[in-house]
Amino acid sequence: MTPTREDRFSFGLWTVGWQARDTFGDPTRPPLDPVVAVEKLSELGAWGVTFHDDDLVDFRASAGERDFAVSRFRKALEATGMVVPMMTTNLFTHPVFKDGGFTSNDRGVRRFALRKVMRNLDLAAELGASTYVFWGGREGSEYEGAKDIAAALDRYREAIDALADYVVTSGYSLRFAIEPKPNEPRGDILLPTVGHALAFIATLDHADMVGVNPEVGHEQMAGLNYVHGVAQALWTGKLFHLDLNGQRSIKFDQDLVFGHGDLLNAFFLVDLLEHGGPGGGPSYSGPRHFDYKPSRTEDFEGVWDSAAANMRTYLLLRERSEAYRADPQVAEALACSGVTALSEPTLDPGETLFDLRRDLKSWEDYDPDTAGRRGYGFVRLHQLAVEHLLGAR
Ligand code: GCO
Ligand code: MN
Ligand code: MN
Repeated sequence: MTPTREDRFSFGLWTVGWQARDTFGDPTRPPLDPVVAVEKLSELGAWGVTFHDDDLVDFRASAGERDFAVSRFRKALEATGMVVPMMTTNLFTHPVFKDGGFTSNDRGVRRFALRKVMRNLDLAAELGASTYVFWGGREGSEYEGAKDIAAALDRYREAIDALADYVVTSGYSLRFAIEPKPNEPRGDILLPTVGHALAFIATLDHADMVGVNPEVGHEQMAGLNYVHGVAQALWTGKLFHLDLNGQRSIKFDQDLVFGHGDLLNAFFLVDLLEHGGPGGGPSYSGPRHFDYKPSRTEDFEGVWDSAAANMRTYLLLRERSEAYRADPQVAEALACSGVTALSEPTLDPGETLFDLRRDLKSWEDYDPDTAGRRGYGFVRLHQLAVEHLLGAR
């Protein structure tokens, strides 16, 4: 269970570097040098690091300070062989963004936000990132009357389209991934779920280069099934990236270690990412990116233990999912439950509903009462998954 580069595990600098400041308390850890983060994550077997512009160097730094920070960071990447698969922009910390970036009611803020993203897109291209994430944590409101939602969505679309245009015109090979979240820090955030984001993306001029970056905890904060959201994103060809972590039910964003929340959901997630759906649906080949926060109780030893725990849990679940897939009793249970039969189209090739009307077996001779007595055996199937997860099979 030792992670290797081939596993493509990546971490945000803001994860291990989180100083554990929360709404009620001061930081419990000192700042972490991004260079040390790169070295340590590399030692642990990670393959990549991701970051917000301000994680590396404050946006108010002078050009000289910025160059110095970037070149130190680059040297650490070269020395370790770590890559930067994804980058993103901080449009939430500074007070200027208190009413949002792209959708602030203040036009000057919106223009400033575009500039802040643009300069970091240049750096993303320079560092060879392939995905650029948009998490609109401050795009939203606390009060219905305070935000014109239609206008805000117009401005959101204007921003993403303009930035996509900038990427294309600059000749960068970057794709965008929108990260949904229902709330926190805003009372209600725009594009709160994977479904909202997919519907928004379909309206974009550059829809082809925009996908989603679903986070485990964010869907679960909305009471939704993460595996279903990810499966739909895969089905639409829009799973460009993802944020793995753990969450225990509908409450504040916990950002626990992957698997430390809903472990069964995590098991089926890994199964889906690695193998695709049981009927041969698409799987995922992108980075396995962790966006978690080492708990506030942890010192640096706990930080590195928790970073390693994310990867180890993923690998353990991968091994368990392989055992599950290879088990002949699971194959038999899947067939009994009709799971694999769902891949067969409901109509025959070329058959129309007019033809169906002539098929007596589909109505006149069909006995819904008999069909209604069928047992699907889903519980037995799920218990097999539980037993594989517990190492009992
Ligand atoms: C959160 C978000 C962020 C984003 C990050 C990347 O704090 O809820 O998950 O961690 O993923 O800002 O844009
Ligand atoms: Mn989160
Ligand atoms: Mn995230």
